[in-house]
Amino acid sequence: MTKRMRFIQIGTGGFGSYWCSAVLPYIVKELGIAEAVAAVDVNPEAHRSIIDSLGLPPDKCYTDVHRAFAENAADFAIVVVPPAYHEQMVDIALAHDCHILSEKPISDSMESSCRIYKKVKQAGKKMAVTMSHRFDQDKQTLEGLLRSKTYGELNYIVSRFTCECRQYPAWGAFRYGIADPLLIEGTVHHFDILRSLSGSNAKTVYAKTWNPGWSDFSGDSTGFITIEMENGVNAFYEGAKANATTLNGWTEEYFRAECENATLELNRREITVRSHLGYPHAENATISMKKQRAWKNPWLAEMFVNWINEGEAPPNNLDDNLQCTALLFAAIESAHTGQVVDVQSYLRKHLNGD
Ligand SMILES: NC(=O)c1ccc[n+]([C@@H]2O[C@H](COP(=O)([O-])OP(=O)(O)OC[C@H]3O[C@@H](n4cnc5c(N)ncnc54)[C@H](O)[C@@H]3O)[C@@H](O)[C@H]2O)c1
Repeated sequence: MTKRMRFIQIGTGGFGSYWCSAVLPYIVKELGIAEAVAAVDVNPEAHRSIIDSLGLPPDKCYTDVHRAFAENAADFAIVVVPPAYHEQMVDIALAHDCHILSEKPISDSMESSCRIYKKVKQAGKKMAVTMSHRFDQDKQTLEGLLRSKTYGELNYIVSRFTCECRQYPAWGAFRYGIADPLLIEGTVHHFDILRSLSGSNAKTVYAKTWNPGWSDFSGDSTGFITIEMENGVNAFYEGAKANATTLNGWTEEYFRAECENATLELNRREITVRSHLGYPHAENATISMKKQRAWKNPWLAEMFVNWINEGEAPPNNLDDNLQCTALLFAAIESAHTGQVVDVQSYLRKHLNGD
């Protein structure tokens, strides 16, 4: 018997305003599977977005997260505040027996991410992380093509994410003050896409990152990264947030998958298959995209609510995401030390102290 799941939205400004306008109406109004009981944001002006989109009464909008949970019973919490506050929000949600749907990354360090993982498991609650871009239509279509093996074995992948965001606060104020903004706030999505396209977790990573003199970022905004996957697929990634132009920005990233019998190129939401081996029939074939009702966060929120309603675990569950988190922080360690990092040993060391 499915029940409408009650939730508290934490963070209604910044990216939280996108949640309020585009994600919450989908699960609350369109599907009718969830119900907002309260919202929290330290900035009271940000409450407007959930009042406008869902008609949440102003007295259910809080600036104090403790009061919001103390005064409202909920089944789950949605966390959309900067990564440095994720662990605090997870602690409060677990103390009130709530499941958690959190924005990426799990937290702002490997230590904090592992603590969150253990606390959620110990509490017996469910948690998923919204890796929006892996669950977008174009990436899902490419992943489906690769999984089908229509073009033979996957050999390697080359990817690009390059943007003109050099001036504060073009990419959101907090990203200009943190360490490793490209990796923590950008590349984490592309790592997850590379995991899903290759169909494997990472074995090793080597990252070279830097920050050009004209950038307003204080941490590294640019990088070249190579990853060897556990199944032998190799991947190369170019990321830059302080370039002179946005060649492949958010939602328009570039992925080229070199398969045994064809080259599959995803560029700015268009997939082209090329082969000189006589397959497919045309030398150049544009692929039509998969179709379904919702993509990215609305789809992820739907899968999460179904999961806590006794449905199947979604692919972005905490266990899966911990692999992405390990790859992220192993890449940061590589960037800081100049060494190749073994991702699975790095994960075991932080999770179990091995
Ligand atoms: N999936 C995606 O594509 C995507 C895109 C952008 C941001 N994000 C993620 O969303 C999260 C939020 O990022 P953002 O850019 O919206 O940040 P932000 O700095 O704009 O903050 C979002 C909101 O949280 C509020 N807030 C901050 N600290 C708070 C606290 N302690 N308690 C209550 N409210 C608090 C702020 O007032 C703001 O309204 C991050 O984890 C980020 O990585 C994900």
